[in-house]
Formats: sequence, structure tokens, C-alpha cells
Amino acid sequence: MISFEEHAQHTLERLNHGGALLTVRSNGSLNTMTIGWGSLSIYWGRPVFIAPVRLSRHTHFLLEQAESFTVTVPRADELRDALAYCGSHSGRNVDKFAVCGLTAQPGRAVDCPVVGEGWLHYECVIRGKFTLSAPALDPVIDQSVYDDGDYHTLYFGEIVACYTR
Ligand SMILES: Cc1cc2nc3c(=O)[nH]c(=O)nc-3n(C[C@H](O)[C@H](O)[C@H](O)COP(=O)(O)O)c2cc1C
Repeated sequence: MISFEEHAQHTLERLNHGGALLTVRSNGSLNTMTIGWGSLSIYWGRPVFIAPVRLSRHTHFLLEQAESFTVTVPRADELRDALAYCGSHSGRNVDKFAVCGLTAQPGRAVDCPVVGEGWLHYECVIRGKFTLSAPALDPVIDQSVYDDGDYHTLYFGEIVACYTR
């Protein structure tokens, strides 16, 4: 186990340049999707990963019934094909782990796997969520990012385990 702070810079750099994989399992369904936004922070005196997931995502449907999720961050040259595929196909229609040849490696502290081929893993327990909406947003952001009403829900996941491969 390592401190969640240890690879924060790498995590933010990867989110901004290729993405990371957010994995969730609920009601017997396992899914992973590419995220490019997100933040590492402190809330309620706890280390937290905040993951923004749009209402339309299958991942959103699963998170609404889940108690935890994981975030797997690759090294710069890793998992490019998987990140592209998992960021453009929905788990409603395909088993992304099977198609991409990804390993669902059991979580150490939560009942949700990590992507075994990734390098850095955050295991998170959902402690709160907040769905963005027009009154809470600058109209410039609302109109440019959410003109179709597909708002993000921010999931606040307390990081209960963080480790590298
Ligand atoms: C680089 C990249 C970053 C992305 N970041 C996000 C994100 O932060 N939040 C989000 O809701 N969707 C994001 N997406 C889109 C989802 O990954 C995509 O819609 C995916 O197919 C949803 O899968 P699902 O329906 O199985 O949940 C991103 C896609 C890519 C390619």
C-alpha cells in the first residue's frame, strides 16, 4: 500500500492525456469506462477520488446501486487500445473486459475489481454524490457542456486502498 498522494501528479497527467479506467460492479454486472476528468482531494478529513460520470452512462446506472468503485491508472504507454475502446463503447451492449482482454483482479479492500493490466490502483468507497444542474453552474459551462441535459454526477469515493502493480 502507498499513500494516495504519492502518484497524484501522474494520475492527473494521465487523466488529462489518455484517461484512466473507472470500474464498478453491482447487481452481478461488471463494467469499466474511460474517465478523463476527476480529482484527488481531501474531504471530511479523508482522501477522496471524485469521479464525474454523466447520467447517460451505463456506469452511472451501476454506480447508483454500488457501494464502491475503483480507478486504474496506466503508465503513459499502456492500455491505449483499451482506453479508446472503453471510452467509446457501452457496457450495456458489450463485455468490455472480455473484448479488451482485461483481467478483473479482485480488490484488496472493496468488493470491486481493479483492471489487472493497469499500473496504479485506487479503491474507493462511495461516501457521497452530487448531480450538477443548471442553477449550480455558470451559464457558460451549462450551455457549452450540458446543452443536451446530460449532466455529470460527482461520486465522492473515499480511497481505502492505493497501490501499484
Ligand atoms: C479520453 C476519454 C475520457 C472520458 N472521460 C469521461 C468522464 O470523465 N466522464 C464520463 O461520464 N464519460 C467520459 N468519457 C466517455 C465514456 O468513457 C464513454 O461514454 C463510455 O462509452 C461509457 O461507457 P458505459 O456506457 O459502459 O458506462 C470519456 C471518454 C474518453 C475517450
